[in-house]
Amino acid sequence: LPRLLADHCPATRFAIITDTQVAALHAEAVRAALSARTDVLVATFPAGEKSKTRETWAALSDRLLEAGMGRDAAILALGGGVVGDVAGFVAATYLRGIPYVQLPTTLLAMIDSSVGGKTGVDTTAGKNLVGAFHQPRLVVADVATLKTLPSAHLAAGLAEALKHGAIADRPYFERLVAARDRLMDRDVGELASAVTESVRIKVLVVLGDEREQGRRSILNFGHTVGHAIETASGYSLLHGEAIAIGMVVEASIGVQLGVTDRGDAHALTSALEQFGLPVSVPAGMDHDHLLDAMGHDKKARAGVIRLSLISKLGYPAKRDGESWTTAISADVIRKALRNTG
Ligand SMILES: NC(=O)c1ccc[n+]([C@@H]2O[C@H](COP(=O)([O-])OP(=O)(O)OC[C@H]3O[C@@H](n4cnc5c(N)ncnc54)[C@H](O)[C@@H]3O)[C@@H](O)[C@H]2O)c1
Ligand SMILES: [Zn+2]
Repeated sequence: LPRLLADHCPATRFAIITDTQVAALHAEAVRAALSARTDVLVATFPAGEKSKTRETWAALSDRLLEAGMGRDAAILALGGGVVGDVAGFVAATYLRGIPYVQLPTTLLAMIDSSVGGKTGVDTTAGKNLVGAFHQPRLVVADVATLKTLPSAHLAAGLAEALKHGAIADRPYFERLVAARDRLMDRDVGELASAVTESVRIKVLVVLGDEREQGRRSILNFGHTVGHAIETASGYSLLHGEAIAIGMVVEASIGVQLGVTDRGDAHALTSALEQFGLPVSVPAGMDHDHLLDAMGHDKKARAGVIRLSLISKLGYPAKRDGESWTTAISADVIRKALRNTG
């Protein structure tokens, strides 16, 4: 870490921003890795999505101001996606922007949220509504930190990894399934190659198109339905768990339309199940309510529900000259929700 920082993010002072849970487990190792001569502040906030607010952003900014951090300082965001998003937003705005480094400690943060430069906080009107693009100077994903991550969070991260395989790389998808036991046992070699492959796919897709309605919308596979389910669960489902169900529903929609290969849809469901992920819409969820939420999804255009489907495992559904997304009727979605119940 000190060598990487010297090369990519030299600073005379560092603020380690982390949450209470990660602080207890990993903050000391990071602090110890920095030279004794370096001035280090550790600023923590209570773990959990409920802390991803403007209030936390303000409190952290005030901590840095009180410590007299200047433009020669840099922020180290140590934790999961919540820490990365809030700390990144502090870095984006503090003194009109200072450098920062992502030190992700959840699999989701390693393969998704630490890459791409999106930072921000939630408001009562919805998630991620206030924020900024601010690229980290460096992302250091030490998969050894995943040894302390609860299994449900590890599996939820693997749902996103399986998504990467499903939209872009079938052999990767199959390797993940074959490596299930080693991944869940937190074999560092296996985890490191999954992080490498997933980041490679995310970067290729994002670089392939800077615009959300273009090719990068394939990253939304499972997310339009998944977000609605995540919200309807009152966030009792982890993001990756809701996305697992979302992928199963969206694959079933694709099968109905003759777009998605039926055998591959089954293979996807079975893979998610093998990782202990949920694959059916929770009983008691109101399907009309879910449809309503999908229409209000940030990415829905003018209330029309458009989905990024796959044709086969490893291939997004797109024929030459057509859109990366497909408009889907409410009836087709209702039927898929019923079939997946
Ligand atoms: N910026 C982006 O592009 C982007 C993309 C996807 C998701 N996100 C955001 O990411 C957030 C979710 O991230 P998350 O799932 O990492 O949640 P999180 O940051 O809340 O972490 C989950 C829990 O695990 C704990 N934890 C973290 N690392 C640990 C470790 N190594 N050992 C033990 N416990 C550990 C945390 O304290 C927390 O309680 C959401 O707010 C979402 O909006 C952002
Ligand atoms: Zn996601």
